[in-house]
Amino acid sequence: MSSFYITTPIYYVNDVPHLGHAYTTIIADLLARYHRARGDEVFFLTGTDEHGQKIERAAQARKERPIELANRVVSRFRESWTNLGIRNDDFIRTTEARHRDVVHALWRRMNEAGDIYLGEYDGLYCVSCEEYFTESQLAEGGLCPIHNAPVEHLKQPSYFFRMSRYQDRLLQHIADNPDFIRPEIRRNEIRRFVESGLRDLSISRTTFKWGIPVPDDPDHVIYVWVDALTNYISALGGFDAPHGRYGTYWPADVHLIGKDILRHHAVYWPTMLMSAGLPLPRTIFAHGWWTINGQKMSKSLRNVVEPNMVAADVGRDALRYFVARETPLGSDGDFAHEGLIHRINSELANDLGNLLNRSVAMAVKYCEGQVPPFAGEIEAEEVDRELITLARRVRDEAAEHYQAVAPSRALETIWELVRAANKYIDSTAPYKLIKDPAKQRRVQEVVANFLEALRWISLMVAPVMPDKAMELRVQIGLGTADAEGQLRQWPDRWGDLAAGLQLQRGEPLFPRIDDDRKAELLAKWSGKADEQESTKVEEPKVDEDKLISFEEFSRLDLRVAEVVGAAAVEGADRLLQLRVNLGDEVRQVVAGIAEAYKPEQLVGRKVIFVANLKPAKIRGVRSEGMILAAGEKKVVALSALDNPDVAPGTKVR
Ligand code: MSP
Repeated sequence: MSSFYITTPIYYVNDVPHLGHAYTTIIADLLARYHRARGDEVFFLTGTDEHGQKIERAAQARKERPIELANRVVSRFRESWTNLGIRNDDFIRTTEARHRDVVHALWRRMNEAGDIYLGEYDGLYCVSCEEYFTESQLAEGGLCPIHNAPVEHLKQPSYFFRMSRYQDRLLQHIADNPDFIRPEIRRNEIRRFVESGLRDLSISRTTFKWGIPVPDDPDHVIYVWVDALTNYISALGGFDAPHGRYGTYWPADVHLIGKDILRHHAVYWPTMLMSAGLPLPRTIFAHGWWTINGQKMSKSLRNVVEPNMVAADVGRDALRYFVARETPLGSDGDFAHEGLIHRINSELANDLGNLLNRSVAMAVKYCEGQVPPFAGEIEAEEVDRELITLARRVRDEAAEHYQAVAPSRALETIWELVRAANKYIDSTAPYKLIKDPAKQRRVQEVVANFLEALRWISLMVAPVMPDKAMELRVQIGLGTADAEGQLRQWPDRWGDLAAGLQLQRGEPLFPRIDDDRKAELLAKWSGKADEQESTKVEEPKVDEDKLISFEEFSRLDLRVAEVVGAAAVEGADRLLQLRVNLGDEVRQVVAGIAEAYKPEQLVGRKVIFVANLKPAKIRGVRSEGMILAAGEKKVVALSALDNPDVAPGTKVR
């Protein structure tokens, strides 16, 4: 029996679980379940990353202590994972003492290796990434390339990790171990990054307190990534306990992560381990990112998918199936709500659900509600042999795909058998055979074959859809007893479904979503963010309320206007009365700009004009629009266009 250790990233507690987190966790869960089915001794770890400035600030914004925020959000993660059928073996929190002790032990090991020194860091820092950037890495406008937000200039004493020392060893390791970083595109990315030169890494901070103190120097807290990465070993009880979990499970088989945190896992973590003299994980697998209906998932777009809600609406197994099937692991995917419903209706309801439904119905009718006996392959006809051969190929290929961390391909392959079984029923047509008294034995054989195909399918889909796999098995007579044990196997011999089991007709496995229900769900999911709490953790509600939609913005009719006349307004020192040309009409407006501009300075200028403002009377003068200008109480500058030739009346967007 071999061991299999798989991890997800530990999630920051400034956000409640959304589809992105659920995705990684579902995939890790299905891989863990597959390996359990194959008899491996599995350890599946997930957890939460609770330290660092980002969390400290999120807590401050909510007037909470960081640990209160963490406790609250951690329960949300735990609940979500239960809801989504996640069966992790441990849940690590970085605020636990068992974790802190191992972080200290690792730091000490690296220090003893001569790899930690005190220096000073002077650089540009993005708090959201908890990451320094060089000038050249920043996006246009000096913004963080990931978050498009301003970075901060930080100068502080800092401990450094001599990461540069491990550049060559890391490159060698990448070259010698093709599976170390997957998929290949990510491996090449990291290889190029390391080749371009590894610098030493700043691994402590003095500007805030929310973290694990540096051993023997409590003015510093340990850099949150050094803290976080260590979770993969602290959950095993630390590397000093070789006979416990660490001895059984380390090195990890798969660190499953999103591509956003590849560098931390494929560069920082392995070099830290090298420094501490510990073995490196076997595979770091970086999956792609989901967009939602074609758009980046983002709180301000209010399109963050709440996996629990979707699971409640369509069933968690359908959601698990969709995310596993929709895109090959490693590629980016789009979570289109329509696409989800389409797959449910076609692949789940139509292909698999229908297969079960018609199979059990026929078996009940033609075989007195019992699994009929198998005649065995000797008596099999050509169509039977074809089905069995295909089933064996599917079983072996699906196993290879699961093994190779390619669940979408595993499912694709399994559906070959689902479709073949449906076709087998069509071509053997037991509903015709049953009318011929000479063919009764043949009917039994056919029924036994398609029920057996269903049994095989139940085992192969179980890692992805454990509940539905069990529902299916109940219908073909296998009962509910010892579900875990039932699913801890992989198809082996054709014909193992025991004759005489009592079939149990049940509800459709996946009810079809009809047009009315579809419209209802689509409306609910697209408007759902309004009442969704995940939008509220980081940003206070007021900020959200200030946002306007693009439709609201589009209601403004902004135009280029040329000032063709300007005069003082009698009795009002701050006002000027202007006439502006909008191309096909001239309007009169009153503008509060007299303190900054004289009438003669204005004629001939082009400005931006709000053309659909309700007319009003100001000091007795009719004003039919508004020109845009900058300034709080007093205007200090007029809006302008950087091309003087733009025609009056041109739309401004
Ligand atoms: N705390 C760090 C990880 C430390 S691991 C030692 C962190 N946490 S996070 O809460 O931001 O989670 C990041 C992970 O969430 C990504 O790596 C990915 O697994 C998942 N996803 C978040 N948004 C995602 C998408 N839009 N699409 C797919 N997965 C995404 O980073």
